[in-house]
Amino acid sequence: MKKKYFITTYGCQLNVHESEKLAGILQNMGYTEANNIKTADVIIFNTCAIRGGAENRAMGNIGALKKYKLENKNKIIAVCGCMTQQKENADFIFKTFPFVDIIFGTTNIHLFQKFLEDREKTQKRQYDYSEDFNLKSENCPKYRTSGENAWVNIMQGCNNFCTYCIVPYVRGRERSKPQQDIITEIKELIKQKKYKKITLLGQNVNSYGNDTNQINFANLLKEICSLEGDFKLTFMTSHPKDLTSEVIDIIAQNDKMLKEIHLPIQSGSNKILKAMNRKYTVEKYLSIVEEIKSKIPNVRLTTDIIVGFPGETEQDFQNTCDLIKKVQYNGVFAFMYSKRKGTPAENMPNQVDEETKNQRVNEILKLTKENKKEN
Ligand code: SAH
Ligand code: SF4
Ligand code: F3S
Repeated sequence: MKKKYFITTYGCQLNVHESEKLAGILQNMGYTEANNIKTADVIIFNTCAIRGGAENRAMGNIGALKKYKLENKNKIIAVCGCMTQQKENADFIFKTFPFVDIIFGTTNIHLFQKFLEDREKTQKRQYDYSEDFNLKSENCPKYRTSGENAWVNIMQGCNNFCTYCIVPYVRGRERSKPQQDIITEIKELIKQKKYKKITLLGQNVNSYGNDTNQINFANLLKEICSLEGDFKLTFMTSHPKDLTSEVIDIIAQNDKMLKEIHLPIQSGSNKILKAMNRKYTVEKYLSIVEEIKSKIPNVRLTTDIIVGFPGETEQDFQNTCDLIKKVQYNGVFAFMYSKRKGTPAENMPNQVDEETKNQRVNEILKLTKENKKEN
């Protein structure tokens, strides 16, 4: 009988796609997907570090895996992703959870087959930590699990260092995937005919090509749109400071482009945006929104908000509420600020207490529901 795997994925679409790569490696080795965690021979936790909540949930659930190992000592348990790309966390998991067999980070996903084979051959636990950020996982086979949607990474990493964010530390600097590799991958997806939607992925897709002498993001979109086939194209995520008129025009004018943009504002207060190192003002953001709405009349506009960033006063928060009312988003993802170790905001003065953060996030939820009712 074929061996089975079960993957639990935390975090963003990037992680969802990376789990598709781990599944691709396992499928190539002859494994099949288990219906549930109990029947799996290999259990993988692909973790996220974006907020404390995501980390705590994963840690708790890793602890609970012990019972599967006690039932069957041949089960292999692996933990990877953004949480284990932080040395301290990876060390902690190695020491605290001796039943975890394989630990690796975001830099060495492509080595998973080797870790698995070495574990089986030597019976030794595999713990590999490296800060060599690269694009090697792009060559992994992919076992796609997102229905009609196919994720295509166009770049990895982030250079923006928003002061609250852990991503640049666990994903490294921006690295653009060669244009030819992207086109080849998409042509192959179109040929298979089962993917009706292609979503380009990157922490800030607008800066595609900045690290190489290749074409920029707008021209990449144009080139993909010119490919023949029955598919729609979209992307995430766009940093407002880098979204160009050229990109907005392409979305407006090209039938292949989905009429949607996820444009995280984070805060409606210029003081907070500055402290966050977002490099745009509320006024600049609103002028981009105006351009988008006038050029793409039925656009689906969504955003991310952080409430309770250090120094956020009631007035700053009300400015965020005002902005949400003004823009009339189709969807708002609101998060309570979570302190991340090693980021500049960790030690900023005037940290906001949990209760206030909670109240503010609830207020935004109420506000967006009210907005939805009006629509
Ligand atoms: N690269 C994307 C965002 C990736 S993280 C971008 O810049 O838009 C997704 C969202 O998580 C962010 O937009 C932000 O709203 C939220 N987030 C990131 N770090 C956070 C933190 N420390 N606490 C709370 N929310 C955070
Ligand atoms: Fe984080 Fe900012 Fe980079 Fe987005 S742009 S991943 S929020 S540092
Ligand atoms: Fe989480 Fe890593 Fe994505 S920290 S949000 S899984 S890039």
